[in-house]
Amino acid sequence: MQQKIKNIREKFLREVEETSTPQGIENLKIKYLGRKGEVTKLLKEIKNFSPAERAGIGKLINDLKKEITQSIQQRLESLSKEVKEKKGDITLPGTFSSLGHLHPLSQIINQIEEIFQRLNFRIVDGPEIEDEYHNFEALNIPLDHPSRDAFDTFYLKSKEQSAKGKEVGKRSERLLLRSQTSPVQIRVMEKEKPPLRIISAGKVYRPDATDASHASMFHQVEGFMVDEEVSFANLKGILSIFVKEMFGEDVQMRFRPHYFPFTEPSAEVDISCLLCKGKGCSACGNKGWIEILGAGMISPRVFERVGYDPDKVSGFAFGMGVERIAMLKFNIRDIRLFFENDIRFLQQF
Ligand code: PHE
Repeated sequence: MQQKIKNIREKFLREVEETSTPQGIENLKIKYLGRKGEVTKLLKEIKNFSPAERAGIGKLINDLKKEITQSIQQRLESLSKEVKEKKGDITLPGTFSSLGHLHPLSQIINQIEEIFQRLNFRIVDGPEIEDEYHNFEALNIPLDHPSRDAFDTFYLKSKEQSAKGKEVGKRSERLLLRSQTSPVQIRVMEKEKPPLRIISAGKVYRPDATDASHASMFHQVEGFMVDEEVSFANLKGILSIFVKEMFGEDVQMRFRPHYFPFTEPSAEVDISCLLCKGKGCSACGNKGWIEILGAGMISPRVFERVGYDPDKVSGFAFGMGVERIAMLKFNIRDIRLFFENDIRFLQQF
């Protein structure tokens, strides 16, 4: 009998070693511990022994039963752990990555574009690399014009110039990073006939040293409208709708005479300071007003350049700095914050 118990034990140990699936282990459990299982059969044989022998044999069989039970339990646990490690535990909570959002400048650009789209303006794009003709000459800014100083920078060689290794071609063909979005006016008018209502946002570049209110790259939105009999009153009407939608009903707007080579007459447009409501504070330099854009009636010189008849068509144009509008709306005091990509700043908007 002892030999028989030993044989069954060894057979079990071999089989449990060879089994590698939880189902196989379950089958072993039935084979050894089930109602007709090997160990159960042994227990039934006890009655064939003398009362003196029974206790000893009974203990041997019970020890075997315990050993088999434990071994099956352990094997099941280690198999299910293996399965989890291989597939990953699908019952664990998922990992969440935080959702991003648009940069505050993109939000402002979208908002400006939406307002003008509702007024029937169409969005167009213009090139950031411009030629001198579109950035200056066509906008009535001749070579010797003093306002070029503030714009003149970031020239690059065209493909042909690079190939020949020297500067060639007329000055008007030289390439530069545009210093304003106004060349979009020229590009659209060269291709299309009035009526036009256009809005165009994008990057511009200036030879400005970086400080809290200047950057060598920033964003502008250009808008213009050309048709028969467009008047300064139309400009004022459109801009006053824009200002109220952008900054609120109670914000005041004023036009100050100004000069731009490509508009005549020209104006700078101020809004009443959002912080002090016009009383004067440190944000507006005690003026009560804050400049937000340049505007005017498109000059006849510009219409002539694009082949429009200045006696038949008229139009207005305006250009605004996106950073400035964003700084006003969000009360941000340093333009550099927009470009540093500091998540702690960006995630506030
Ligand atoms: N382009 C001008 C600037 O950058 C702004 C402007 C646009 C003024 C259109 C008048 C008309 O300062």
